[in-house]
Amino acid sequence: MDRIRIVGGNPLNGLIPVSGAKNAALPLMIASLLTAETLTLENVPRLADVSQLMRILGNHGVDYRIEGKRIGDAPYAGQTIQFHAADIVDTTAPYELVSRLRASFWVIAPLLARMGEAKVSLPGGCAIGTRPVDLLLMVLEKLGAEIEIDSGYVLAKARRGLRGGEIDFAKVTVGGTHTALMAASLAHGSTLIKNAAREPEVVDLADCLVKMGAKIKGAGTSRIEIEGVGSLQGARHTVLPDRIEAGTYACAVAMTGGDVLLEGATEALLPVALDVLRQTGARIEETPKGLRVSRNGGAINPVDITTAPFPGFPTDLQAQFMALMTRAEGTSRITETIFENRFMHVQELARLGARIRLEGDAAIVEGRPVLKGAPVMATDLRASVSLVIAALAAEGETLVHRVYHLDRGFERLEEKLVACGADVERLREAG
Ligand code: UD1
Repeated sequence: MDRIRIVGGNPLNGLIPVSGAKNAALPLMIASLLTAETLTLENVPRLADVSQLMRILGNHGVDYRIEGKRIGDAPYAGQTIQFHAADIVDTTAPYELVSRLRASFWVIAPLLARMGEAKVSLPGGCAIGTRPVDLLLMVLEKLGAEIEIDSGYVLAKARRGLRGGEIDFAKVTVGGTHTALMAASLAHGSTLIKNAAREPEVVDLADCLVKMGAKIKGAGTSRIEIEGVGSLQGARHTVLPDRIEAGTYACAVAMTGGDVLLEGATEALLPVALDVLRQTGARIEETPKGLRVSRNGGAINPVDITTAPFPGFPTDLQAQFMALMTRAEGTSRITETIFENRFMHVQELARLGARIRLEGDAAIVEGRPVLKGAPVMATDLRASVSLVIAALAAEGETLVHRVYHLDRGFERLEEKLVACGADVERLREAG
């Protein structure tokens, strides 16, 4: 298994091109199941989760073609992929495939909407809490589906098609909102979603669906209205930049010091998180090319945060922010409200010398002047990258084991960091 070796202490200086957002690319790819025409997605990141979803879609009958480079493409440009679901040959998403990628459960919505039936394994994905699918199933039931759970599979049927309805989420859910958007777009009649997720990735999916002919109003607010249509057509859409990747590198610079342009990132994608980073002492400016993040010496100020749905502080940046706080001059409190058990990075950060105490859904981080490199283990996607950030600022060498978690969500992580002066190397190993 590959490992990543990091020798800490170098500030980061230079340019990091921000890739297309994994969390937008995945639902957009799934939306290709809604039409018999070609959906072309640009700026798709090269990630293990994207490849895994391509395998899952292929199993349903989706053909895909990756376009080659074009004149003028940046060397790091994302991929352009055409998805074509002319015929859906299989409405079953098997355990072997779905268990490796939680978001693939969302195929249930387009399969049901287009084919009137779907059989999808209950999901797996990151080990961060129980992550139920009750709200996603509620969506499908509100739109007229009959749902049964049998031997680890959800069987959903709507023989005469889905019909519009009112969906009122008891809890804000990104996946639930994606599911509702896709299902309602092909339902008979109108649907109202209340307490919808407002994440930029939801807006990106809605924008693409509108290009495909869907009638959607209000995406980006907590109230979305959808008027179902009989069929959807092909479209071309560019995946929005990855705000979590951008925020991760911003945390890294805030910790190591230096000056980095996060090409393609915008302030609007990370409203609260950037303000928090400013409070820690980082300087962040929006430029026409992206966000410029710098910190030149000076203390890292401790700041308390609480994760919340967009536009609040993203849970997907909680671990990275905790890494930064381990070097703050003082104590900070980090409260996680979205996922239980999302503190698995705590014990690994402690191996680098961090002082963190858990109190229910909060972590109390006592900042220390120095961290020291050590062998650590990646546990989930965001936790792994928090270890990388801490290692970049630690004295000496850190070896991060189980880096396949990183490959699920961070494109060319080592290359991007090395280009900014970090001492990072992937040690490839067979087996
Ligand atoms: C998505 C993101 C993930 C991010 C999360 C929250 C993708 C591929 N993943 O995950 O990176 O951390 O949003 O921003 O986009 N819940 C239920 N029942 C359900 C569904 C969700 O109780 O049926 C709960 C979850 O356990 C969690 C909360 O709702 O406590 C929010 O989860 P949700 O927004 O649905 O997360 P995902 O869409 O799975």
